[in-house]
Order: sequence, then C-alpha cells, then structure tokens
Amino acid sequence: TMTDHKQTNIMTLTRYVLEQQRLHPDATGDLSIAMNAVQVGCKFVEACVRKARLINLVGLAGNQNVQGEDQKKLDVLSNEMFVNALQASGKFSFMVSEEVDDIVVVPEELRGKYCITFDPLDGSSNIDAGVNVGTIFGIWRLPSGPKATVDEILVAGSEIIVGGYCMYGSSCNLILTFGNNQVEGFTLDPALGEFILTHPDIKIPNRGKIYSVNEGNSLYWDAATRAYFESLKFPTPESGRKPYSSRYIGSMVADVHRTLLYGGVFAYPSDRKSRQGKLRILYESFPMAYITEQAGGKATTGTTRVLDLVPKHIHDRCPIFLGGADDISDVEKAFKENN
Ligand code: AHG
Ligand code: MN
Ligand code: MN
Ligand code: MN
Repeated sequence: TMTDHKQTNIMTLTRYVLEQQRLHPDATGDLSIAMNAVQVGCKFVEACVRKARLINLVGLAGNQNVQGEDQKKLDVLSNEMFVNALQASGKFSFMVSEEVDDIVVVPEELRGKYCITFDPLDGSSNIDAGVNVGTIFGIWRLPSGPKATVDEILVAGSEIIVGGYCMYGSSCNLILTFGNNQVEGFTLDPALGEFILTHPDIKIPNRGKIYSVNEGNSLYWDAATRAYFESLKFPTPESGRKPYSSRYIGSMVADVHRTLLYGGVFAYPSDRKSRQGKLRILYESFPMAYITEQAGGKATTGTTRVLDLVPKHIHDRCPIFLGGADDISDVEKAFKENN
C-alpha cells in the first residue's frame, strides 16, 4: 500500500487549485489554468528579485507611472512578465495593473471570463535596500465573460473570487484565498519550482500586540486616527492593557503578512496630505481586505467596510485599517467617537 509520507504526498499549489476546482461541479478548469499563469509570474519575479543586484536590475527605469512614482526597472519588468503570462493563459479579458495607466484589454482571440487586478511589485521603493517586496492580485469573474465591457470591472470588492499575494522575502510565500473562510499559505521550494502548502488554514488572532502605520504622517492625521493610535500607545489603567509594539516595514505585503500571522493592526489612513490615503483599491486594498476577512479579521476605511467600496476609476485609493476583529472594532469605535 502507498505510505502516506509527507515527502511523497506533497500538497502543491497546483494540486490545491485542482482540489478547489473539484469542489465546484460546474467548474470548467479555467480558474486552474488562470492560477498557473499567476504562479509563473510570481516565480519569474522571485527569480529576478533574487538576482536583481547581480544583473543590475535595481534602480530606476527612468520613467514615471500613472501614480506619479518613479518606476523601478523591476516594476516594469515584473509588470510585463505578468501581463504576458496572464494574457497567454486565455482566461482573462481585462487586467488592471498599478504600472499601466489604462485598463489592459486582452486581444479578442485570447479573452476569457475573468478580470485580474495586480500590483506586480509592491514595496518597490524598498527594493534597492534589499527589503521584502511582493506581488498582490485579485481575480473577478466577468458577468458577461469574454464579451464583458469595461464597466464590469468597477464593482464592489465583495465580488472578488480569488485574493492573494506573494512575498519575496527570506523565503517566497504565496498566500491566497478562494473564499469560504479558507486562507492557505504556500512556500516556494526552489529545487522543485513548486509552491508547497506550509501554512494551512491561516486564522488571524482577534487581538494582537502590534500596530503598523507610518507615524511620519502623524502631523496630518485626523482626530479619529490620532485618538486610535494614542489609545494603543498610552492605554488607560482601566483598559488593563500594555502598550502595543510598533512594526512598520513600508512594504504592504510584508506588513500585512506579519499582521495576518501575528495579529494586530496594519493601517494606511487618510490624512490631510492624501485624503484617500495611499493604497490603491483594486490591487492593494481589495485583495488584502478579502484575505484578512477570510482569515477571520476585518478591514475598514475607519467608517466603511473596505469590500463594500465601489471604485470609480481603476487607480482610485482608499484609507485602510486591517487586522484582527477586536482590534479593528476598536478602530471603528474611535471613528464613531471622534467625528
Ligand atoms: P508600491 O511599491 O506598489 O507602489 O506600494 C507601496 C506602498 C505599500 O507597499 C506600502 O504599504 C506603502 O506604499 C508605504 O508607503 P509610505 O512609504 O508612504 O509609508
Ligand atoms: Mn508603486
Ligand atoms: Mn503596492
Ligand atoms: Mn507596486
């Protein structure tokens, strides 16, 4: 009989996606093929990030993106890799990328029933310093399939069906959810070139001990945001709590990954400098809010559930506080009391 050793019965991401497909009798396998293209993109970026310094892939590409940011060479390279791999899969009709000004409309013969939104390289301002960076993606089903028009992309975040990120750090971790309160973490085995299940069924602790926000913006925060972080730093005696610890890496993928595993709160609030905060709804806030909720946490703008937002433009931004359910309930309370 087959021995059920771990070594000979490994749960690869490809196998996991196929098992998800079998859960849906009407599944056609399209999403499995789409997810393979996502994997190829992540493996390519991982390889580039690993050797960036060696083949002079760090530094500026010399142009700006629609966000007004100086594009890094790796921003451009990873974007092109994802666009090509995803388009070739034949499963997407539209794509929204942080690094492309307009919606990418896939040529007729390659259009499929999904739309994907992605940040090909998140945290790229850190790349030259060797800090963790990542890729963030969200996949939506287009009601009209390949005949869909563009307006079918600007829908509420709750329509999302797959949310995930890949973090290029000391190891390469891909975290994703297909919904039904299941968030799974995979680690790339470079020898096999396969993502292996290493963090099954991730649940975020209801309350943590860490807050993660750029305190350099404190001068511009509104009253509610200031009151909330003050309550973590100077807990009242009756709260019976100790001050939270501060951890801020400046790469959303790394800060969210730590928040998901350890608990606590990650935030990029609205402030007087940037009324809508900095993070982009379609390819940063929506996928991360979805993953957080499916892991048992919450994601709010302060006053609204992030996934209830409907973006007007593809690069719209929103304020975001995400983390454990109890931590985020405190945020919502601070916004109710300080308006
Ligand atoms: P990107 O590199 O994709 O443009 O995203 C950068 C974002 C996000 O990764 C991070 O949370 C945030 O920028 C940090 O912004 P500040 O440096 O203003 O704190
Ligand atoms: Mn950027
Ligand atoms: Mn980003
Ligand atoms: Mn980016």
